[in-house]
Amino acid sequence: MFRALLVGLFLMTSSMACTKKAPQADAGPGALSERGRKVYLASCSSCHNLDPTKDGSLGPAVVGSSLELIQHRVVTGDYPPDYKPKRETRLMVALPHLKEDVPALHAYLNSISQSGK
Ligand code: HEC
Repeated sequence: MFRALLVGLFLMTSSMACTKKAPQADAGPGALSERGRKVYLASCSSCHNLDPTKDGSLGPAVVGSSLELIQHRVVTGDYPPDYKPKRETRLMVALPHLKEDVPALHAYLNSISQSGK
C-alpha cells in the first residue's frame, strides 16, 4: 500500500519533469489557457487540428468558440439554442468528464487569433 503510493508519487514527478515548461502556478494570466492547451492537445486534437485555427481530420477549426458553445459540445454533445453548426455531421461524442476543463478550453481557444499566432 505504502509502496504503491511511492510509485505513484514517482510517476507523478517524472511525468511532470517531461513537460516542456516548468509547471506553472495556478494563478496568473495564461495559466488557465495553458491548462486548456494541454486538455485540447490531449482530448480534442485527434479530431480537430493540433492547430485550432485549422480544420482537422474530422472536426472543423474551433478557434474563438464561445464558452456556451464549448460547454454544450463537450458536456452534453449538443449546440446552444439558435447556434448554426459549422458541420451538419454528428460525429463528435460528448466528453462530460472534461466539464471542469471547459473554462480552460475556452481561455485557450480564445487566446489565439483566428489567423494563427
Ligand atoms: C471524435 C472526434 C472529436 C473529438 C475527440 C472532439 N471533437 Fe469537436 N467536433 C468533431 C466533429 C466531427 C465536429 C463537427 C460536428 C459533428 O460532426 O459532431 C465537431 C464540432 C465541434 C465544435 C463546434 C464547431 C462549430 O462551430 O460548429 C466545437 C466547439 C468542438 N467540436 C470542440 C471540441 C473540443 C473542445 C474537444 C475536446 C474537448 C472536441 N471538440 C473533441 C469531432 C471531435
